[in-house]
Amino acid sequence: MTRWLVTGAGGMLGQDLTALLRGAGAEVAGLDRGQLDITDAAGTAAAIRDVGPDIVVNCAAWTAVDDAEAHEGEALAVNGEGAANLAAACASTGTRLILPSTDYVFSGTGTAPYAEDDPTGPRTAYGRTKLAGEQAVLRLLPEAGYVLRTAWLYGAHGPNFVRTMIRLESVKDTVAVVDDQYGQPTWTTDVARQILLLADSGAEPGIYHATSTGQTTWLGLAKAVFGLLGADPGRVTPTSSAELARPAPRPAYSVLGHAAWSRAGLPPLPGWRDSLERAFADIATSEGRQPAGGPVR
Ligand SMILES: NC(=O)c1ccc[n+]([C@@H]2O[C@H](COP(=O)([O-])OP(=O)(O)OC[C@H]3O[C@@H](n4cnc5c(N)ncnc54)[C@H](OP(=O)(O)O)[C@@H]3O)[C@@H](O)[C@H]2O)c1
Repeated sequence: MTRWLVTGAGGMLGQDLTALLRGAGAEVAGLDRGQLDITDAAGTAAAIRDVGPDIVVNCAAWTAVDDAEAHEGEALAVNGEGAANLAAACASTGTRLILPSTDYVFSGTGTAPYAEDDPTGPRTAYGRTKLAGEQAVLRLLPEAGYVLRTAWLYGAHGPNFVRTMIRLESVKDTVAVVDDQYGQPTWTTDVARQILLLADSGAEPGIYHATSTGQTTWLGLAKAVFGLLGADPGRVTPTSSAELARPAPRPAYSVLGHAAWSRAGLPPLPGWRDSLERAFADIATSEGRQPAGGPVR
């Protein structure tokens, strides 16, 4: 039986991944930040020696995109050096490593889906630190390193856009949401399932894009959430990124291509609307709400 070690197991993806693996009967050591701080190189090497996993998934990350602008060194310590600590420990023990990464490694100025091997060009501190992690994993583990870029994640645990919209629907008449950023809303459980599929497949190491198929804007996603609650999607009104300026610039175009999955003989993730509908009951419940039960309008 495959033995897994999941770091950052208390995070949004980490919680869903450990639950999915356990539900599938796998042997899993899920370590949260209190149990393993990946910036501690010696502690990281010791944890991998002690657990003896076949595969490590690093769900630990600095994910505060705006805060990273003023704290890039601290974000790099986790996203870059922490990932490198794991990669070095995996290299010395012959262990496979999966590193979730992000669409923010790209400039976000594209107009066609980014291919896995397209040139990177992060415009934020967060993106630079995640790219450093990717580069460390690909350099230190050419035979056993997998970079899984994802984006626009939502799930039942941890703060995310879908939960925020569910909350706002109950307290605001109208909600202004940007309509000039394109991406792929992605359910943490779909990413977790894809990680399991990848691990079982013997696929080549390298870069994969673990985002839903299809694309929308944040406005489109917010309207879909309102529809699933049985609320009027017209209560979500369009605004622009310029009107909602934030410390870290948001990519205008974050759509990722999925060719590496078909090269590996694996299916891509499902379409974003189908996944949102399947995920919705659990997420609404986590906010104390009930879905309306109808299809996404
Ligand atoms: N959320 C998104 O929309 C999104 C989009 C693209 C890519 N991703 C990537 O997907 C992955 C999972 O993201 P997520 O949304 O699940 O993030 P998350 O909910 O913020 O979880 C990250 C976890 O890492 C922990 N952590 C932080 N520093 C650590 C350290 N030094 N050692 C060990 N653990 C540490 C955090 O603990 P504390 O809470 O105690 O700090 C938290 O539990 C990340 O690689 C992220 O970059 C996420």
